[in-house]
Amino acid sequence: MSKNINVGVIGGGLMGREVASAFGRWFVINDSKVNPSLYAVADLNKEALKWFNSVPTCKLLTENYQDLLECPEIDVVYVAVPHNMHEKIYIDVLNSGKDLLAEKPFGIDLGSAERIVKVIKSSGQFVRCSSEFPFFPGAQRVYKVAKSGEIGRILEVRSGFHHGSDLDFSKAANWKRQSKTCGEIGVMGDLGMHVCHVPFRLGFEPRSVYAQLQKGYPERPGGACDTWDNAMLHAWIDVDGAEPVPMRLEMKRMAPGETDTWFIEVLGTDGGARFSTKEPRTLWQFSRGIEQEWRRVDLGFDTPFKTITGGIFEPGFPDILMQMWAAFFAEREGHLNECFGCVTPSEALLSHRLFAAAVQSQQLNQVIEIT
Ligand SMILES: NC(=O)c1ccc[n+]([C@@H]2O[C@H](COP(=O)([O-])OP(=O)(O)OC[C@H]3O[C@@H](n4cnc5c(N)ncnc54)[C@H](O)[C@@H]3O)[C@@H](O)[C@H]2O)c1
Repeated sequence: MSKNINVGVIGGGLMGREVASAFGRWFVINDSKVNPSLYAVADLNKEALKWFNSVPTCKLLTENYQDLLECPEIDVVYVAVPHNMHEKIYIDVLNSGKDLLAEKPFGIDLGSAERIVKVIKSSGQFVRCSSEFPFFPGAQRVYKVAKSGEIGRILEVRSGFHHGSDLDFSKAANWKRQSKTCGEIGVMGDLGMHVCHVPFRLGFEPRSVYAQLQKGYPERPGGACDTWDNAMLHAWIDVDGAEPVPMRLEMKRMAPGETDTWFIEVLGTDGGARFSTKEPRTLWQFSRGIEQEWRRVDLGFDTPFKTITGGIFEPGFPDILMQMWAAFFAEREGHLNECFGCVTPSEALLSHRLFAAAVQSQQLNQVIEIT
């Protein structure tokens, strides 16, 4: 018998609807020990709420998220709202005694993330932060190769997330393009957690950073825009006490030719691996024997949590989002075992330390030590 878990969503926009989709076909996961359903949605926008009328499990639609927090049937809350609202709503969720899957960047800035983490520690609630791309089978394989200890001395790490839709100057000036709602860290708050998750989990913590930040169009239909749109972070990391290793983290909203490309590459003297969502079933694996070789492996649907989907098929965004939720519930129930877990509050805090240092680096045009 799987355990029923009722989930409430605060913020029924782009991401809130994706959650409804993931829970709506949960039966595809083999032997799931939990059975999550979307029980309630809170959103300020009536139109956004209306969409959830088509979700049969949804019992409560409200414009006031306090109604949702007062609902005793709800076990877990997922919050997907603009970044300026994270701190207030996350802390309200924790004070209501419910567990939380938070959205990145986990507070609008470092101070905000620190305050959230303080409340998490005193509350004892189970909290994780959303980042789904590492649940692609190819990303998992890069993680395993990097962790294996079989690729010699690690020489370099590259992790990135490239979007291109901001190249279009007619795209509207929404909250993601204004510092007061997105945060001074701009694109780093938008895409950075996705980029940091795997390196941080591998223990690749930046000890210093030099940042190159670029802005996009200052005006868009609907208003002025002032956020950083592209960020290249050049960091030094320590790996196993050996020579420092360069790690480059790339976050871009203005990357020509890229719709939604997440990638990770770890290279060592004897081996390495590379994965990009541009080729969702392909793992590139490097080995150095008598000859040097890049091997292309056709992976198929080898997700961490097994499903009914045939092993020959390729995974996409809805699949990895569901995998992330499966990892969240498994860890919450204490049986994640060897599976890869969601971003922890301390990893989210570390990402904010890095992004705050990057903003300082840009202002001073200097390398900034991260303490
Ligand atoms: N994990 C991912 O892949 C991913 C992708 C996109 C966005 N996000 C993150 O998800 C969050 C939301 O982004 P989005 O793209 O879904 O935004 P969105 O603008 O599509 O949706 C946000 C929703 O929140 C609602 N909202 C705002 N204030 C509210 C309040 N006080 N109470 C209730 N509802 C409120 C808005 O009306 C809107 O419907 C952000 O933190 C963003 O960084 C994550």
